[in-house]
Amino acid sequence: MIYFVAAIAGIAGFLFGFDEGVIAGSLHLLRGEFNITPFSEGLMTAAVPLGALFGALVAGRAVETSGRRALLLVAAVLFAVGALLSALIVAVWMLSVARLLLGIAVGIAALVAPLYIAESAPPARRGMLVSIYQLAITLGILGAYLVGYAFSESWRTMFLFGALPGIALFVGMFVLPDTPRWLAMKGRSAEAGAAIARIRAVAPESPVVTAELAEIARIAEADQHKGTWSDLFGPVIRPALVVGIGLFLLQQLSGINAVIYYAPVVFREAGFGSASTQLLATVGIGIVNVAMTVVGMLLIDRIGRRRLLLIGFAGTTLSLGMIAIAAATDAAALDVLALIGLVLYIAAFAASIGPLPWVMMSEIFPLNVRGIGMSVASLANWTFNFIVVFSFPLLVSSIGLGGVFAIYAVACAAGILFTLRRVPETNGVALEEIERHLRSGRPFRELGTQPPEPGHGGLQPSYAAAGAD
Ligand code: GLC
Repeated sequence: MIYFVAAIAGIAGFLFGFDEGVIAGSLHLLRGEFNITPFSEGLMTAAVPLGALFGALVAGRAVETSGRRALLLVAAVLFAVGALLSALIVAVWMLSVARLLLGIAVGIAALVAPLYIAESAPPARRGMLVSIYQLAITLGILGAYLVGYAFSESWRTMFLFGALPGIALFVGMFVLPDTPRWLAMKGRSAEAGAAIARIRAVAPESPVVTAELAEIARIAEADQHKGTWSDLFGPVIRPALVVGIGLFLLQQLSGINAVIYYAPVVFREAGFGSASTQLLATVGIGIVNVAMTVVGMLLIDRIGRRRLLLIGFAGTTLSLGMIAIAAATDAAALDVLALIGLVLYIAAFAASIGPLPWVMMSEIFPLNVRGIGMSVASLANWTFNFIVVFSFPLLVSSIGLGGVFAIYAVACAAGILFTLRRVPETNGVALEEIERHLRSGRPFRELGTQPPEPGHGGLQPSYAAAGAD
């Protein structure tokens, strides 16, 4: 059963990545077929993060009233319908609309699937299962790149592929129950008990069921003392909010999604190879992204968050600088430099700046404001994602690829300063200690200067904590 839950999570994450990445392989075909301006190109590409912003806003409320399962079913339908529509469009504005639907699905799935796992998985497996979700996003990006390479003549086929995992998600969620926690919250305790028995594969009268129901009731009790918006923006919590929003702002301004969404365009603008070599190189980017995400997951607890962030920002600053120089000059010899720069950039990002804001977002907020703190931070993520993806074609056509990458390089350099001055070390620090430190009024950055307690830590992204406490 638990593998079933993991598979559902995997599909949702995969679709997230797929719909981000699928535009990359299709842009050159769409450009040949339709009259596309940099504005319309930016809009149809960035329709996904824009829709996601909207989906996340709606899902944040609906997830409590309608439940996790219902929302995931809605997302699955939107994924399938959006894929179908984007395969059938006859005008560019239609593609923007179809991708807006896909974006809404992405926004819902990105919020609800991890919550669904966190609430259904046995606590000991939670971290592992949520990591699978993150990995699935990068696998979805890679999947989209592979489809883009294999069907490089037909963008309609590429888009259509997204319908298959959407249907699988629907079938999976159809047979799975809602989470015990949500059912219990709605006073449906008999169903909650049955759901626990099913997920844990035990008899309904097992003590496991009674114990979990009691635990859910205890958490519901604690939830009554929820913090408010003014707590979140107040002086005590503000340093954590600054770190949460700041890390996502910098993560997005590092330009990652300019590369993820427009990789072949980047290769073309950098003067690298023919159209089909550019698609193949894009697949290479996807593979490095997956592999280095795994490396990052292994490193996070060993070398600490701050050090890993510093390495990441330093690596991306240097590699973006390399690409900017290579792109600004015409010398063919520099094309290789652009390629090496891009691979180094993805590697540095995927192992560090990619996962870390998600992980830290789940650690830095005190329990009573963790829910709203995390949703503000992830809305920041979608907002800046949209800004970067939308502005990329416009910027390239006005200041050129070299100029754009120079801007991203400056943002990454700012990331080094921000990390040094603002970001605390949370590795090995108990969550209660983080909270106590914030309330003590000492500079947030000084947290974790004491020797760490062994045994705590782990890739414990965002969502795990949201559902866990
Ligand atoms: C991170 C970013 C996301 C990006 C992804 C690429 O999760 O938040 O915007 O697309 O990494 O792997």
